[in-house]
Amino acid sequence: MTNIHKQQVLDAFHFRAACRTYDPARKIPKEDMDYILELGRLSPSSVGSEPWKFIVLQNPALREKIAPVSWGIKHPIHEASHLVVILAKKNARYDSDFLRNALVQRGLTPEQMAATVVRYKSFQQDDIKILESERTLFDWCSKQTYIALGNMMTGAALIGIDSCPIEGFNYDEVNRILSEERVFDLNEYGVSCMVTFGYRNKEIKKKHRKPVDDVIEWVE
Ligand SMILES: Cc1cc2nc3c(=O)[nH]c(=O)nc-3n(C[C@H](O)[C@H](O)[C@H](O)COP(=O)(O)O)c2cc1C
Repeated sequence: MTNIHKQQVLDAFHFRAACRTYDPARKIPKEDMDYILELGRLSPSSVGSEPWKFIVLQNPALREKIAPVSWGIKHPIHEASHLVVILAKKNARYDSDFLRNALVQRGLTPEQMAATVVRYKSFQQDDIKILESERTLFDWCSKQTYIALGNMMTGAALIGIDSCPIEGFNYDEVNRILSEERVFDLNEYGVSCMVTFGYRNKEIKKKHRKPVDDVIEWVE
């Protein structure tokens, strides 16, 4: 299946570091960006819900609009080759059209559909308890988007592209600005996180990580 060596993957993990200043002259080729976005699209999600959208925000005026409330983007916002705003679905309840449509697309029979909706209900209500508020339901979808985020950043690193995940922004304001600009419908989606991509223009300090024994425990 694969001829990738473990060391190559580890090298990519060591290469990947939060990139806070990019070479503004270097733009990521379209096919490489398509590859990164495809890794997001192919990512796993709870019950196969795919509760996300990837907004590639290249419009300079829109970028400048969110810059003043995006303190976590440390460089002038136009310097990142690409800025992806990851949206998470709102109201992805067990009985929502959104989840039903996902099942229809997977070709479930009406009987299978009915049984699956019952299962999702007890899952969302009793097991993982995310029906307590709109916020808990949104956060469940938002969690899924972070899997896509990680996969995109790792896949980018594997081909030498830098990235920085971004949570440092005012969520209300970015939601307001992008929905007022009709980038997305606030009734359907909310911003989960952002990520910049590009090419570093200086060396990034070696990453600090806790020792293995502090974070990994084998129970045998
Ligand atoms: C979900 C998430 C949000 C983050 N938000 C920001 C941010 O807004 N601005 C920033 O400069 N770095 C941000 N970071 C980067 C972290 O500070 C960085 O990943 C961490 O310090 C570890 O360093 P490394 O990524 O270089 O290994 C974020 C990281 C994650 C995972």
